Amino acid sequence: MPPTTPTVLIGEDELQARITALAHEIRQDFPAGQIHFICVLKGAFLFLGDLIRALDGHVTIDFMACSSYAGGTTSSGEVRLSKDLDAGIEGRDAIVVEDIVDTGLTLHYLQEILLARSPRSLRTACLLSKPSRRKIDVTVDYVGFTIEDKFVVGYGLDYAEQYRNLPYIGVLE
Ligand code: IMP
Ligand code: MG
Repeated sequence: MPPTTPTVLIGEDELQARITALAHEIRQDFPAGQIHFICVLKGAFLFLGDLIRALDGHVTIDFMACSSYAGGTTSSGEVRLSKDLDAGIEGRDAIVVEDIVDTGLTLHYLQEILLARSPRSLRTACLLSKPSRRKIDVTVDYVGFTIEDKFVVGYGLDYAEQYRNLPYIGVLE
């Protein structure tokens, strides 16, 4: 059982409204084409689900997983790929879908790996960004919300695998 109920930082309605706006922004940038979404597991799975349901037109999805956290709230600084994509991305318009950019190390690592596979374009959509924590400069094309340096959970994000099911973003205090 999770010990505490998180305090709401971003409520369900605000979350959904922003995701719908992001979807429209993305579709405007790729008006006719097929968009290939690369969901970074596990944290981004709900964001991916809501994002693609708010998008018109042709969309494909694939999943990859990597970890930089040992299960606590501080980054080890090491990134490990634990699940690769099922399909290649050569010639595709691909968008990486991440839950949160913290130090940026995970995203930097992923972008390097994926760019080496020659997509036609590679962009990144992150639901949350904590710019004050950045250790490396990474490009994020679509950002849902910029937040302070607080450890957040819910809507896919976990603390020791708990809280992913919350429909809002909360803070553990
Ligand atoms: P980065 O490599 O430091 O940018 O960390 C990225 C990953 O760390 C994210 O994809 C999350 O899985 C995890 N992470 C970073 N900050 C938080 C947080 O506040 N709550 C939950 N997970 C986080
Ligand atoms: Mg993650």
